[in-house]
Amino acid sequence: MVSRVFPEGFVWGAATASYQIEGAAAEDGRGPSIWDTFSRVPGAVLDGHTGDVAADHYHRVPEDVALMRELGLDAYRFSIAWPRIQPTGSGPAVRAGLDFYSRLVDELLAADIAPVATLYHWDLPQALEDEGGWMNRETAYRFADYAAIMATELGDRVAMWTTLNEPWCSAFLGYTSGGHAPGRTEGGASLAAVHHLNLAHGLAARAVRGVLGEEAPVSVTLNLHVTRADTPADAAAKARIDRIANEVFLQPMMEGSYPEQLLAETSHLTDWSFVRDGDLETIAVPLEVLGVNYYSTGRVRTGTDVALPEPGTPAADGHRAGQASPWLGCDDIEWLKQPGPYTAMGWNVDPQGMTDLLLELHERYPHQPLMITENGAAFDDVVAPDGRIHDEDRVAYLAGHLEAVGRAIDAGADVRGYFLWSLMDNYEWAYGYHKRFGMIRVDYDTLERTLKDSAHWYREVVRTSTLQPVEIAPRLG
Ligand code: FCB
Repeated sequence: MVSRVFPEGFVWGAATASYQIEGAAAEDGRGPSIWDTFSRVPGAVLDGHTGDVAADHYHRVPEDVALMRELGLDAYRFSIAWPRIQPTGSGPAVRAGLDFYSRLVDELLAADIAPVATLYHWDLPQALEDEGGWMNRETAYRFADYAAIMATELGDRVAMWTTLNEPWCSAFLGYTSGGHAPGRTEGGASLAAVHHLNLAHGLAARAVRGVLGEEAPVSVTLNLHVTRADTPADAAAKARIDRIANEVFLQPMMEGSYPEQLLAETSHLTDWSFVRDGDLETIAVPLEVLGVNYYSTGRVRTGTDVALPEPGTPAADGHRAGQASPWLGCDDIEWLKQPGPYTAMGWNVDPQGMTDLLLELHERYPHQPLMITENGAAFDDVVAPDGRIHDEDRVAYLAGHLEAVGRAIDAGADVRGYFLWSLMDNYEWAYGYHKRFGMIRVDYDTLERTLKDSAHWYREVVRTSTLQPVEIAPRLG
C-alpha cells in the first residue's frame, strides 16, 4: 500500500446519535422514547443498561466540540432526539430542546465544523409508539411536522439534513425480530413499518424543502447489506436478501417503485395495501447525497436445515441469537459464518465489501453523490498503564476501509466524505455499554474522555487528507 491522497473537498467527519451519547433522558422536558421503554424490559439489553446517562454529552457540549476541533474534523454527524423537541411526538416544540441543538450547532460553527443533522436515529417518542409507532401511517405525518420545526429552527445553520438513519433497523429489528425498540414481532405485517418509514423520509424531505427551498440539502442514510453467495443456486437466495434488505428502501427512494418481484414473493406475508396512490412519488425525492453505513458482509446459501447458533452468541447474520429472524420470508436461507478476522461485535472485517457496494451504487445511480455516514469497529479496548489506549486493531480496520473507499473513488464512484463511527464510546443499543466503537474513550464511571491512538491517527488523516500505509499487524482475533 502506498500513501493515498483523497480528493479536494473530501469531507472528514465523525458520527454519533442522540440516545447513544446524550443522557439527560428526563431533563428539560424531554419525553420518553421507545429506547427508554425498551431498555427497561428485562433481558432486552445486556445487563439492563439504559441511555439515562450515556456519555453525558447533553452536559458536555463545549468539551466534546473542543475535542472535535482538536481532531480537526470538517463535519460532525449527530442526531436530534425527537422527544426533546416534541415530548409526545406532536404539538408545540419545547424551547429547551430547540435551544440545546441550537447551541450545539453554534458551537460547531464556531469551531469551523459543519453540522450534519439526522432527524431520526431510532428514538421515537413513546407516545407515538403507543399509537402504533411506525406501523401507523400517522407517524410519518408527525415526523414531517417535526422535520419542519427543525428546519425552521436550524435551517440557516445546518449543512446537511438526513431524514432517517438505517430504516432497515427501525423496521426489521424494531417490528420483525424485536431485537431493538419497540421490540415487537409482527411478522409480515411489519412491512407496513418499512413503507411508513419510506413515506416519512419523503414527507420529511418535502417539509424541510418547504421551509428552506428546493435546494435544501437533504439526504438519507441506509445500511445496505453486502451479501455474498458461492453458487448460482445461492445467488438466488442472495437476490432475495438484497430485495428484502436493500431494494425495499433503495428502489422506492431512488426510483419511485417497489420491486415487482419483492411484491410477488412477499404476497403471502402482506397485501401491501398500506401503499397508497401518490406515496411513491412522495418517497422518490432528489438527494444531495445518499448516505451509506458500512461495517461488514454476509454470506448465504439456500438451505433447508438451518442450524441456530447457541443462545448468547452472535448469529452468522450479525444479530443476537435467540430472537425472531429479521429476514422476512427467508427462513429457507442459511447464513454462513464469514471468514475472519472479526470485531468485538462478531462482525467480519471485509473492506472489499465497501468498494463493491460503492461501485454498485455508482453504476446504478451514476449522478448520485455518495457519502460514508458510518464506518468503524468495536474492539475490547485496554487502557495501558500509561493511560493510553493502543487500539491498533481499530486503526487497521479504519485504514483498510478508507483504502477501500479510495479504490472505489479511483474507479469512478463519487464519494464526498467519510464519517467515522464513532466519535466516542457510547450506548451500543442491545449491547449496552459493552461494545466500544469510539476513537475517544469514555470512562463510564467518571465520564472522562481520552483520545485513543485511533483518534491521534485519524487526526493526521484529516489534517493531510492522506492515508499513509499502516504498518500495524492487526491483532484481530
Ligand atoms: C449502526 C447504527 C449506529 C451504531 C452502529 C454500530 O447500525 O446506526 O447507531 O450502533 O451501527
